[in-house]
Amino acid sequence: MSDRDWVRYATGLLEADRAAERATPLHRLPLPAMPSVPILVKDESARVTGSVKYRFARSLLLGAVARGDVRRGTPLVEATGGNMAVAEAHVARMLGLSFTAVVPGRSAPDRIARIAAHGGTVHRVDPPLAVYENAERLARQVSGHYLDCLSTLGPAIDADLDNGVPGLPDEIMHALTPEPAWIVTGAGTGATSRAIGRYLRRHGHATRLAVVDAENSAYFPGWVTDARDYATGMPSRIEGIGRPRMEPAFDPAVVDLVIPVPDASSVAAMRFLAGALGVPAGPSTGACLWGACHLAHRMSRAGESGTVVVVAADGADPYRRTFYDDDWVAGKGWDLAEPARRLERFVRTGDWGA
Ligand SMILES: Cc1ncc(COP(=O)(O)O)c(C=O)c1O
Repeated sequence: MSDRDWVRYATGLLEADRAAERATPLHRLPLPAMPSVPILVKDESARVTGSVKYRFARSLLLGAVARGDVRRGTPLVEATGGNMAVAEAHVARMLGLSFTAVVPGRSAPDRIARIAAHGGTVHRVDPPLAVYENAERLARQVSGHYLDCLSTLGPAIDADLDNGVPGLPDEIMHALTPEPAWIVTGAGTGATSRAIGRYLRRHGHATRLAVVDAENSAYFPGWVTDARDYATGMPSRIEGIGRPRMEPAFDPAVVDLVIPVPDASSVAAMRFLAGALGVPAGPSTGACLWGACHLAHRMSRAGESGTVVVVAADGADPYRRTFYDDDWVAGKGWDLAEPARRLERFVRTGDWGA
C-alpha cells in the first residue's frame, strides 16, 4: 500500500467509525421533589473506551493523519495515563499503530491495565511533571509522533466545529426540546467545556454552560479573577478534573459559571449518584452532580423551570479500588457524612440549604 493509499485507508476507517457511533444514553434522575427542574445525566461511559474522550482522540488522529504528522507505521506517544490515553490507544490500534503513554512512576496498576487492554504500553517516569519532556524525547528517539493533547485538542475541537462535525453538544441538543437551561461539566484539559461552550454560542442557544472545579485547581480562581495565567502549583485529587494551571484548550469566555466543589462533596455525590440514583460514574461526575443540585435549587427558588444536563465523563469501574473504597477514602481524610446528608435531604425535599 502506498503512503497515499494508507492515508485514504486510515481516514476512511476513522470516518466510518465516526458515522457508526450511536448517541450515548441520557438518564433522568428520580427527583420527585423538583418536578420543574429535572436533572439528566449524559452517560459518556457508554463510549467504546468508557469515557467522553473517545471522540476527541479520533478527531486528534484524523487531523494528524491529514497533516501528514502520522503515516503508516508512525509510533504514537502521549504524556498522560488518563482517559485520553485509553482512547488514543484504542484509535492507534484501529490504525495498526503502536501507542505509548508516558505516565508518572506511581500510576495505579488499574490505569496501566486499562491502557494495555486497548493495545497500548506505558513508559513510567519521575517526577510526574517530567512526563511532557520525556514523551517528546521518546517520540523523537523512535521517529514517532508526540500527540500532545494538551496543546492540540483545542485546534482539533475548533476544526470539528468549523466543519460541522457532530459531537457531544449536538447529541444533547438534538435529544431535548425545549433546550436545556444548563449543561454542567468538569474541566481537565478544558476540551469538553470548550466543545460545548463554543457550540452553544455558534448555534445561538440560550443554554448556559457551568464548569465544576476541584480543590487546588486554577480554573475557579482564574475564571473569577479573569487571570488566564493563574497557577496553584498543586495537583487536583479528583481524577480527570482540576489542574494547577488553566490549560490552553480551556476557554473561559464561553463558560457562564464556574462552581468550586469541595472534594469530599464530589466523592459523596458520586456515591449518591451510583447508589440512590442508580447511575454509576466517576468522581468528576460527582462534582458535576453537586454543581447541578446548586443550579436546580437556584432555579427553583427563582420560580424558573428547565432541564439541567450533567455530563458523566466516565463510569465507576476505574474507581472501585479508590474512590469507591471506604478505606482509601478515609486515608484521604474526607468525611462524606455531611455532604451525603445534604444530598439526601435535597432529593427528599428539594431543599439545598443555601
Ligand atoms: C474523569 C474525567 N472527567 C472529566 C473530564 C473532562 O475534562 P476535559 O476538560 O479534559 O475534557 C475528563 C477528561 O479526561 C475525565 O477523564
